[in-house]
Amino acid sequence: MTINIKRVGMEKGSQYETIITTISPDGRKNAAPIGTIAYSEKEVMCRIFKTSHTAQNISNQKEFIVNITSNPVIFTLATIGNLPEEYFTDDQVPILKDCDAYLKCKVKTLKEARKKNDPVNSDSMSLVIKAEVYDIVLNKKCPKIANRGFYMLIESLVNYTRIDIVNDNMKEYYLERFREDERVIKKVGTSEDKKSIEILKNQLKDMGYDL
Ligand SMILES: Cc1cc2nc3c(=O)[nH]c(=O)nc-3n(C[C@H](O)[C@H](O)[C@H](O)COP(=O)(O)O)c2cc1C
Repeated sequence: MTINIKRVGMEKGSQYETIITTISPDGRKNAAPIGTIAYSEKEVMCRIFKTSHTAQNISNQKEFIVNITSNPVIFTLATIGNLPEEYFTDDQVPILKDCDAYLKCKVKTLKEARKKNDPVNSDSMSLVIKAEVYDIVLNKKCPKIANRGFYMLIESLVNYTRIDIVNDNMKEYYLERFREDERVIKKVGTSEDKKSIEILKNQLKDMGYDL
């Protein structure tokens, strides 16, 4: 079967919120929410804090799974702690039982990097991992993949419908929110998200708002 990450709804250059599952050398299964960038048809890229279990496991094993899910409980449990054992399969590299699709990935390159302009502690090192996708499995015909850009666009649109009917403090708050939404959309959004936030920005400018 041809490998093309478009099959899970990924568009080259955009970043998606996924759950990466890995295993430690002593057999501990791990899951963490990680932003996965669609690098090419057959490659993904991630930037992962070096101190995380995920980065350490990937460094050791050179393999990982990108799970596609929009299950909010999985995202929450995997963020505040680790997922309970029953969420994982018993595969050599564990997979989430409840995912729409998954990508099996093999590390191609692994580089240490310190991100400029990172609001998080500037001393924190990350690993920039480029990986080859060597298998794609669809559990659902149309996997639902999370992209923050779309949700931020929706927030901006909702605020747009209110901006003319709120007080000045609230207007300023909405404009700040807009600037942040635009920043994130430009970083992670799809081409259609980026096109849409530009249309909305021009509309707000035409209405006299300073953006
Ligand atoms: C939606 C979402 C996306 C995230 N993306 C990343 C990321 O791209 N890189 C990263 O290092 N941490 C990211 N995090 C934070 C990690 O998930 C978090 O540090 C986690 O505790 C790491 O777990 P681990 O030590 O089990 O690997 C993200 C968190 C959330 C909620």
